[in-house]
Amino acid sequence: MTPAYGLRGRAAIVTGASRGIGLAVARALTRAGARVCVTARDADAVRRAAEELGGVGLAGTVADPTHLKNLTDLTMRSFGRVDIVVNNAATNQPYGPLMEADPDAWRAAFTVNVEAPLRLVQYAWRAWMGEHGGSVVNVCTEGAAHVGPNVGAYGTTKAALLHLTRQLAGELAPTVRVNSVSPGLVRTDMARFVWEHAEEELAASLPLGRLGDPEDVARAVLWLTSDAADWITGADLLVDGGTRVRTARTAPAYAVHDVLRSHTPEAPG
Ligand SMILES: NC(=O)c1ccc[n+]([C@@H]2O[C@H](COP(=O)([O-])OP(=O)(O)OC[C@H]3O[C@@H](n4cnc5c(N)ncnc54)[C@H](OP(=O)(O)O)[C@@H]3O)[C@@H](O)[C@H]2O)c1
Repeated sequence: MTPAYGLRGRAAIVTGASRGIGLAVARALTRAGARVCVTARDADAVRRAAEELGGVGLAGTVADPTHLKNLTDLTMRSFGRVDIVVNNAATNQPYGPLMEADPDAWRAAFTVNVEAPLRLVQYAWRAWMGEHGGSVVNVCTEGAAHVGPNVGAYGTTKAALLHLTRQLAGELAPTVRVNSVSPGLVRTDMARFVWEHAEEELAASLPLGRLGDPEDVARAVLWLTSDAADWITGADLLVDGGTRVRTARTAPAYAVHDVLRSHTPEAPG
């Protein structure tokens, strides 16, 4: 029998879910029947998202372990379970050459992009998943496979998150599945500084001829969280419009890097 794509009866935590990819993921999980707990730093935006989704929300930064514990507690109190964790919130700072990277900003990037996903999975494991099972999806980036201008800190944290995904998948099997998605360039606020003045050129450099929308990534996350993917763990799913398979015909150079090179460390998005 084909495993179900639906999530009826499940409860999920989605970080960075007030806009962009995270909100699209929270919407997709909700449509599939899950109840969701969302978080981001902007309290108004979190309230709006939770209301729209008919779920719950808590404003705060994922850099704060207490906030992650509170999120888990809120989900358990509200829904009695936490079956799904989507670690989506991230920072693309510090931007610039690594030789100039500020140590505090570097540490902050690892706290948000790598440590927070681990902490949240630890809390969810202790509260529910360790006994009852579950599914985790970490949002990485296709860009972590490249050495790119000015994005060395971001790429390094995401490469670490990719390995954290595999390591956790090994440690938590067979109880909890842990996978990642690696988006290419998606039209969101975080990447606005890359695409807003060069969208046509960037789209033309991709085999599938367009930039990504948050829903493209959300559908992949939904599938990985569902029982339809119940024999998949430790995997990374590229959702990149074919970025990784660009050919000399479609893209003699990597157009994203031309744009990144043109931004100074003071002016990223
Ligand atoms: N867009 C792309 O091209 C692209 C490509 C590859 C990978 N990704 C990845 O996709 C994920 C989502 O990015 P996006 O493009 O959707 O960005 P976005 O539209 O800017 O949304 C980011 C979300 O995360 C929240 N957030 C940021 N820092 C946070 C923190 N410290 N604690 C809690 N919430 C925080 C933001 O709300 P607040 O500001 O209110 O906190 C917002 O809800 C990230 O992991 C990113 O690395 C994006």
